Amino acid sequence: MQILNRMSVRFDSRSVNEAFARMTVAAFVAQLDPTLEELNDIKTVVSEAVTNAIVHGYRDQVGEILVSARLLEGNFIEIKVKDHGCGIPNIDQARQPLFTTGNSERSGMGFTIMESFSDKLKIRSSVGRGTTVTMLRKITGRGTGAND
Ligand SMILES: Nc1ncnc2c1ncn2[C@@H]1O[C@H](COP(=O)(O)OP(=O)(O)O)[C@@H](O)[C@H]1O
Ligand SMILES: [Mg+2]
Repeated sequence: MQILNRMSVRFDSRSVNEAFARMTVAAFVAQLDPTLEELNDIKTVVSEAVTNAIVHGYRDQVGEILVSARLLEGNFIEIKVKDHGCGIPNIDQARQPLFTTGNSERSGMGFTIMESFSDKLKIRSSVGRGTTVTMLRKITGRGTGAND
C-alpha cells in the first residue's frame, strides 16, 4: 500500500502525555474527515496503547514512547505505539479478555478494545526490550468528498 502521509512524535511515559498522544493522532487523522465514531475509536485505541506503555511497559520508571501514524492508500490509517519497556512474556495470554498483570484498577480489556476498534491489530514484544502495537483502520469518512 502506498504511503500518502506520515507523522511521528516521541514523549516521556508520563500519564499527562496520554491525552497529548490521543489528541495528536486525532489531529492527524482529521485530514481524512472521519466520522465522530471513527475519531473516537482511534482516540480510544491510542489511549489504551499509550496507557499500557506507561503503566505496564515502564511501570515505576520513565522512558520514551514513540507514536507514529501513516495514511495509506485506500483511506487506511496505520498507528504504531512503541516502548522500550519490560516487554510481554506471553502475547497470546495478554490478548485474552480480562487478563491483566495490573492492580484492581485495570480491567484487562485494553487489547480486546483495541482489537475491536481495528481492522488489524499486531503486537510485537520482546522481554527486556519493549513492545510495539500496530493498528490498521479504514476510515470511511463523513462523505463530504474530502477523501476523494
Ligand atoms: N506495553 C506493554 N508493556 C508490557 N506489558 C504490557 C504492555 N501492554 C500490555 N501489557 C500486558 O498485557 C496485559 C493486558 O493488557 P490490557 O488488555 O490493556 O489490560 P490492562 O491494561 O487492563 O491490564 C497487561 O496487564 C500487561 O501485563
Ligand atoms: Mg491496558
